[in-house]
Amino acid sequence: MAADQEINAGDIKKDFPIFKIKMSGKPIVYLDSAATSQKPKQVIDSIVKFYSEYNANIHRGIYDIAERATDEYTNSKGKLAKLIGAKSIRNIVYVRNTTEAINLVALSWGNANIEKGDHILISDMEHHSNLVPWQLLAKRKGAVLDYIKLDKSSEKLDMDSFKENLENDPKMVAVTQASNVLGTINDVKYITKEAKKHGSVVLVDGAQSAPHMPVDVQSIGCDFFALSAHKMLGPTGIGALYGTEEILNSMEPLFGGGDMISAVTRQTHSWNSLPWKFEAGTSNIEGGIAFGAAIDYLNSIGMEKIRRHEEKLTKHALESLENVKNIEVYGPKKDEINIKSGVVSFGIKGVHPHDVAQIFNNEGIAIRAGHHCAMPLVTEVLRQGAVSRMSFYLYNDEDDIDKAVAAIDEVKRIFKLE
Ligand code: ALA
Repeated sequence: MAADQEINAGDIKKDFPIFKIKMSGKPIVYLDSAATSQKPKQVIDSIVKFYSEYNANIHRGIYDIAERATDEYTNSKGKLAKLIGAKSIRNIVYVRNTTEAINLVALSWGNANIEKGDHILISDMEHHSNLVPWQLLAKRKGAVLDYIKLDKSSEKLDMDSFKENLENDPKMVAVTQASNVLGTINDVKYITKEAKKHGSVVLVDGAQSAPHMPVDVQSIGCDFFALSAHKMLGPTGIGALYGTEEILNSMEPLFGGGDMISAVTRQTHSWNSLPWKFEAGTSNIEGGIAFGAAIDYLNSIGMEKIRRHEEKLTKHALESLENVKNIEVYGPKKDEINIKSGVVSFGIKGVHPHDVAQIFNNEGIAIRAGHHCAMPLVTEVLRQGAVSRMSFYLYNDEDDIDKAVAAIDEVKRIFKLE
């Protein structure tokens, strides 16, 4: 790759005010972007600008600043539609986050379409957000929740298990595009194609993929795709559910109220057009606008370039950990970097991940430790109570990873490990 096609993380860091702060007296090394990303000043400024210059409710006021607010909010959906390859903003419903997007599907589509004895298929590497809503739906309806198992390596989905489960003709197949623990990137296009042969509706959890790689929902062919803005440089409290027009048109809104209707009489109402019929009440206007600014920022770098950068960092991390004793690294390794996102989970023999995270904190390094909201994967598949996780983004560089590797040495020194 030519140098001008590479990300200069040092330059990018200058756009993120957080990197001026210190943690434990040291410049912060932020390796927890899978939990939430940091925000560039362009995103922060867009919120201040909205409240300072054109704060007004959307879809209601016939005056300049209200029209500007409506335009900016709507434009943000246009930007997201383009980023993920959706046909139009009619496919983009704004919600609070990935969790709400999936719950919306489980409650609206699920309540109308799942019956007693139907099968719902998810996988053993799902985040609770793509698991608990389906458990609740299965319980409400008397449906059966099945799991695609992992292969022997505990790194990838077992495609034989997938095919076996498809024989039950699941009504819904819901899988993550990228695991928040293993970093495994699943071939959701293939999964969708096979599931469609069995008449399944397919939902892809894109919380850990959309921020980090090019996504094309039409090429994947899925019916639904869920994501969160806060993991992709945007603010918390805003995310999106992508749905095909056909399926969104077939669904009932979850909430009734202002903005989601086209007309109301004393006894009846009719729904607004897509996507607004799913967005009752005043929207998270600042969130939508700032999400648009985040997408502008991502586009100014390029998703392909972001993916290449994270591949390079992940390879560097995996190579650096390769010969470290008393450490176990989970998920695909460097020879499968094409199916590995910028997430590296690990365990240090005999040391609780919370102690690891505490010692990292003393070095100014932020990582996450725990079950990562993926308990069946961590406890039943990996057979761990918790794991430590580093996760990378466009503002990280190899120096950040070298500091993390040095922090592992420090853990081992304190715990007297080889
Ligand atoms: N889902 C987020 C994570 O994996 C919170 O950390």
